[in-house]
Amino acid sequence: MAIVREGDRIVKRPGLLLRLTLFMLGMGVLAVGQFSLVVAADAPRAATCKAYDKNTELSDTLIVPAMLAPCAPGVSESGASTDIVANLQHGFDLYSWLTFVALNSPADGKTALGSGPRPKGDAPTAWESYKQLPDLMKEDGKPASFDEPVEIPKECGGGVVTPGTLIVHIAEETFNQPFKTGPLIDQNGNYALFVIFMNREMYDFIIDSDLHTRAGQRRFQDKKIEFPMGDNGNEEKKIPPRIGALMIKASWKILKKGEEGKFHAVNGLIYTPGKAGSRGTCVHRTLGLIGFHVAHKTTFNPQWVWTTFEHRLNVPEERETKGRLSKQYSFFNPSCDRIRCPVNEVPKGRWDPAIQPYPEGFRSQIVRVIPVTDDAKSINARALSVPKIKGTVWENYMLVSTQWPTDFRNPVDLAGVPAPTFLANTTLETYSQGTDPQASSSCIGCHLNATTARAGDVNEQVKFSDFTYILEKAH
Ligand code: HEC
Repeated sequence: MAIVREGDRIVKRPGLLLRLTLFMLGMGVLAVGQFSLVVAADAPRAATCKAYDKNTELSDTLIVPAMLAPCAPGVSESGASTDIVANLQHGFDLYSWLTFVALNSPADGKTALGSGPRPKGDAPTAWESYKQLPDLMKEDGKPASFDEPVEIPKECGGGVVTPGTLIVHIAEETFNQPFKTGPLIDQNGNYALFVIFMNREMYDFIIDSDLHTRAGQRRFQDKKIEFPMGDNGNEEKKIPPRIGALMIKASWKILKKGEEGKFHAVNGLIYTPGKAGSRGTCVHRTLGLIGFHVAHKTTFNPQWVWTTFEHRLNVPEERETKGRLSKQYSFFNPSCDRIRCPVNEVPKGRWDPAIQPYPEGFRSQIVRVIPVTDDAKSINARALSVPKIKGTVWENYMLVSTQWPTDFRNPVDLAGVPAPTFLANTTLETYSQGTDPQASSSCIGCHLNATTARAGDVNEQVKFSDFTYILEKAH
């Protein structure tokens, strides 16, 4: 397997002395800046990402208020292993953890991860103030601008969304997994819920390119869809760092009393729009984060980098279920045997999230088919020793792995020979876990099939949407 990573190194860092001088110079500029505040209206936007040194370890000193996500992975071919791919994988896994803590930093920008007002230092997170899929794909073709407040449907009480509140718009993709493979039912009998977000760069790119409507997509027909790429920049060549397109799919479960503090939580407004002009319905529930997908497009990863995190008590690993389990899981009942509770089965009957708990006492009995990788395990263990994580709500989350293209220029495999070959989140690709080349979950492998929307006519040409399924939801 060819490894094309030579260009992936980040900017050469100046030595300490030079860095100090640059810092002092910077302070000078800042002081001068005080006097020119009146004309600062078109000053460049504050940096939206950070170029970390290669293989930056997660540590307490890094976790600061308004922590910035990595602009792009800073990875190294050398490392603890003799295997280049394993060393690079370690860099990608570190990148994933930095991304996770940065995106989950408090949205107020003033407090650091783990020091928020909710139980166990929880707080509304930065990414929850990004825009959601339904904010973009409006029936009237008029999306809200990224900074515009989002209106709460009148059935949910009206007003605008404030940090800590999340609207879940019930649609096929909020309760059913990709390609209608099935819903996931927790041990309390409720549906797991899935919500999709985009960062500013991705959201604005879609609107500026007029890709949020089918008509706009048709006009784009002879152009290639290419989302902006994150990049660590290059000081010598005066290329500034930038974040590029980033998209998130988060999974949630409805929390019972007493479960807060174990999960990052939000006030959920579960909104089912009415059909043909009739009133919609809305229920208020506290939701806990159980799964977190991030895909980030960067210069040396045009197939994007695919990160997936889970709550540690979602499910046990399959091999663990051979012994006695004493923990309580959200999607596995340790006291139910394999005959009564066959594992990884799709719920029987009709799937309708308006009917909860799930009829006839059905509960999903889910196991993790592929164990969490050793590299992810070791970083997850290390995360527990970081004081700003330990003892907070965030100690309950773990990286499953990061999928990345090992050979992004491969002329035959447009997926760029992903590593690991298979990757699934037990709450988001529950029923396609495993290592079957034809059927099992590969983030890049599946997202390579994503296209623009089909405008009714089955013979109409659709085009590759650059790995996102967001564009197929245009009206
Ligand atoms: C079997 C195909 C499949 C696999 C495997 C898959 N996804 Fe997706 N993913 C989808 C579909 C389809 C959607 C759109 C939501 C829907 O319609 O259900 C989606 C949505 C997303 C989104 C929101 C943006 C978008 O494109 O809609 C992210 C982020 C995402 N997936 C990340 C991942 C990650 C990370 C993995 C691997 C751990 C993964 N996906 C595996 C099919 C897949």
